Amino acid sequence: MPSRSSASRRTVLRGAAVAPVAGLGLAACSASGQGSAGAGTPTAPVDLGAESEVAKGGAKLYRDYNVVVSRDGNGTLKAHSTICTHAGCPINKLQGTTLICPCHGSQFDAVTGKVVQSPATEPLAELPVKITSGRIIAGPGA
Ligand code: FES
Repeated sequence: MPSRSSASRRTVLRGAAVAPVAGLGLAACSASGQGSAGAGTPTAPVDLGAESEVAKGGAKLYRDYNVVVSRDGNGTLKAHSTICTHAGCPINKLQGTTLICPCHGSQFDAVTGKVVQSPATEPLAELPVKITSGRIIAGPGA
């Protein structure tokens, strides 16, 4: 089977349509400090918008930044990366507080980042988040 010989460049090219996306996503999740973020999560604090946009007990998906922000019953905000931990796809759907990955159907709890539906097994990466002048600021260094 071609999939067993990873040394063959011709074989590797066959999987090239999927592999680079997955590689970028995983790199963005595990990289600390420098590295290429590509289509990953913010590498510096970003202004996501007014804090009033995230209701208590709710969540909001910021697709442009691959970030989800949630607020628990006490009003505490949390932010997570929405780069799927399965193979690195950007998650583009939020139903209530459940994130749904378009690639293979993994689901995550937007409040805790935990997996609620496989094939993903690892939770979403948590990001620093804070409120400044009524704005949600999220990302490393926030
Ligand atoms: Fe999200 Fe596979 S990349 S389920």
